[in-house]
Amino acid sequence: MSVDALFQPLKVGTLDLPNRVIMAPLTRARATEQHVPTPVQLVYYAQRADAGLIVSEATAVHPMGMGWYRAPGIWNAEMVAGWRAVTEAVHAAGGRIYAQLWHMGRLVLPDYIGGQLPIGPSPIAGEGETFAPRPEGDTSHFLPMKPYVVPREMTQADIEGVVAAYGMGARNAMAAGFDGVEIHGANGYIIDQFLQSKTNRRTDAYGGSIANRVRLLGEIIEAVAGEVEPGRIGLRVSPTSERKGMGDDNPAALTEAIGALAQDHGLAYIHLIEPIASGFMEKPDYPVMDHLRAVFAGTIIQNGSFDAETAASTIASGKADAISFGRPYIANPDLVSRLRHGYPLAQADFDYAYVGEDKGYTDYPRHTAE
Ligand SMILES: Cc1cc2nc3c(=O)[nH]c(=O)nc-3n(C[C@H](O)[C@H](O)[C@H](O)COP(=O)(O)O)c2cc1C
Repeated sequence: MSVDALFQPLKVGTLDLPNRVIMAPLTRARATEQHVPTPVQLVYYAQRADAGLIVSEATAVHPMGMGWYRAPGIWNAEMVAGWRAVTEAVHAAGGRIYAQLWHMGRLVLPDYIGGQLPIGPSPIAGEGETFAPRPEGDTSHFLPMKPYVVPREMTQADIEGVVAAYGMGARNAMAAGFDGVEIHGANGYIIDQFLQSKTNRRTDAYGGSIANRVRLLGEIIEAVAGEVEPGRIGLRVSPTSERKGMGDDNPAALTEAIGALAQDHGLAYIHLIEPIASGFMEKPDYPVMDHLRAVFAGTIIQNGSFDAETAASTIASGKADAISFGRPYIANPDLVSRLRHGYPLAQADFDYAYVGEDKGYTDYPRHTAE
């Protein structure tokens, strides 16, 4: 089957993309312990600059939303300077890069925030466990794991703080030279915690009905749009994901409300995690893509377990405009060329997905013909 549909140019908001292969956001934990981007990150991103668009790894907008050892933030001047070096390297290599703006909400371990409880819509813990910070002097390869804790239920002031932090994150992303920002509303982090009914049990204006559960997202979009033109704002969502204890009683209706909100604000794109095979998350029994298409006229990027052929056929069918690739980008810096020419894909060493320096990060070779 022809894979041509994947290599047609596409206008996304204000940007002209040369192809429809999007690099999905991938947390790789190569920043400093103070969450400042490092020089090895600019090598990594520049190696992947021929993607139609790079979406950066999740980047925290506020210390209370940062619960990942050596993931980057964007709340202070040092972080902005670190990111500026990355965006300059990507642009010099001919690429385009959005910043994914992140707040982990209830999924932050107290270890990261001076022993405080994390904040969330309702006092319900995430399911499972996550990486704790590396103890002083520890030299083992893997980080210790700890279970998620019951968060403190957010007050109105907490909500306003998160909204303001997103606005500041967007402003800082522009100062750092990003081409746009992607609001991280997926994967069980704070926005998703408000969106989905299982994790939002609030009885105020932010809980209950779908209109109330999308309110925080709407306020965040407004704060971000106060700093960045809507044609440079994307939104990532995963309304059918049940990872980390998520769940919604009507993902299709929720998706329509999210899509309508994005449409009202004229956002550049929605990036929907809706896998076509289980792997990173389960393949949903009742996909919501068609519900999104019906209400949102902007670009739709779909994600999850695609290869060149399924990506091209999904675009050709009109279901999505572009496809993002996550895991394949770890070991294939030249993924665009491999997908285009049908070269074999290298397999990633996941022992180095979230730990290490150059190894398993910038040392994957490009394809060479035998
Ligand atoms: C190592 C790793 C890190 C990830 N980090 C992020 C992230 O920072 N932000 C995000 O929205 N998704 C993140 N994801 C999810 C991916 O963006 C993507 O949705 C997932 O890998 C499924 O796509 P794939 O089948 O093409 O890999 C991560 C996935 C992996 C494997």
